[in-house]
Amino acid sequence: MGFGELLIRSYDAEVDRLQVEDLERRCEVGPAQRVFLFTDTLGDPICRIRNSPMYIMLVAVLDNELVGVIQGTIKLVTLHKPPRDLAKMGYVLGLRVAPVHRRRGIGLKLVLKLEEWFNENDVDYTYMATEKDNQASVNLFTKVGYIKFRTPSILVNPVSKRMYHLSSTVEIEKLREEEAAAVYRRFMQSTELFPQDIDNILRNKLNLGTWVAYPRGESWDNLGSTNGQFPSSWAMLSAWNSGELFKLRLGKAPTSCFMYTKSCILMDKLLPSCFKLPDIPDFFHPFGLFFIYGLHQEGAASGKLMRTLCKFVHNLAIKSSKDCKVIVTEVGGGDSVRLHIPHWKLLSFPDDLWCIKALKCEDKPQNIYDLSKIPSLGTLFIDPREV
Ligand SMILES: CC(C)(COP(=O)(O)OP(=O)(O)OC[C@H]1O[C@@H](n2cnc3c(N)ncnc32)[C@H](O)[C@@H]1OP(=O)(O)O)[C@@H](O)C(=O)NCCC(=O)NCCS
Repeated sequence: MGFGELLIRSYDAEVDRLQVEDLERRCEVGPAQRVFLFTDTLGDPICRIRNSPMYIMLVAVLDNELVGVIQGTIKLVTLHKPPRDLAKMGYVLGLRVAPVHRRRGIGLKLVLKLEEWFNENDVDYTYMATEKDNQASVNLFTKVGYIKFRTPSILVNPVSKRMYHLSSTVEIEKLREEEAAAVYRRFMQSTELFPQDIDNILRNKLNLGTWVAYPRGESWDNLGSTNGQFPSSWAMLSAWNSGELFKLRLGKAPTSCFMYTKSCILMDKLLPSCFKLPDIPDFFHPFGLFFIYGLHQEGAASGKLMRTLCKFVHNLAIKSSKDCKVIVTEVGGGDSVRLHIPHWKLLSFPDDLWCIKALKCEDKPQNIYDLSKIPSLGTLFIDPREV
């Protein structure tokens, strides 16, 4: 390689924290031509993984300088492939290599070292998410055997200063954790990547709750049980306060967007309320977010019910959070629920790319199964712990 010996070891908060934060700042990634949002981990670089059942962060050190990082988590999820519909899944995230040390194989070594940890823990498959246009990342993961798997979209809706009006024909009810878990198991158990420890997610302190919406006049009564009668149409979702873990801030927005945002803020201050422009929050200081997940709908009128639930979460953000400025969700490429989720195209990411790899071990013959044959059901369960 032509330089000192590279050491890859586990992250040690006391020794590495400041260097990791510095590295993160130097590696900010995002598409050049459009708006994107950066993550500020509030002095805890491991915050994005610490709610997962198993996690690790590795650092690469070269001549006492921290030059790369990678994070990984493990959990048991639904994945439709013979001989069973469950898989131990490793998730790779947060790969960063310092700009001056790139193209020397450090990124590749970090990925392979993380895979050793996955293998030690009996992981069947590992997957990662990246921007479709991040050529360095796509090439690197392809080189070590990852293949294109799913193309979900990240939808972002700003929280305005005004409450949305909620239809008086819709009833909204908060579910108890046990009931929410039972309904999820009944209706989403077979959704791709459904986490088997859903109860842990629902009882996590970051979870704000699970709500259902149905036509007023009908009833929702302990419907987690198998003999429950469901309303003619209904929708459900859960909300997670990611802003407690990390903040977002606007990245290198094109000048036009910067000017638009600034002028909207100024006009908002100057104009009388009858001439107000569409509300745009001030994105120039770090802000929090709510992540909505576990979206499910049934029945002919469920689209309107889902829209109402999204508006309800928006209003909840205004009422309960000082700094939540966006509501974020991620949906599978073919998931029709996306039609009912309010979002701004300018802030959303329609081109997320997930790649997957089977970890081939001699004692795991099922992993020889051709991954490209795993049927896509269009829907995905997005785990809020991996946002
Ligand atoms: C992506 C990243 C981690 C790659 O790290 P790296 O140490 O430079 O990667 P490696 O040297 O191990 O490269 C391995 C292979 O990846 C591919 N690759 C890496 N950088 C590339 C680039 N800029 N353009 C095209 N292919 C690239 C190549 O196939 C390369 O093999 P080669 O050098 O033999 O051609 C680094 O560019 C980075 O930190 N980028 C910013 C953060 C980011 O995008 N992270 C990924 C998010 S999932």
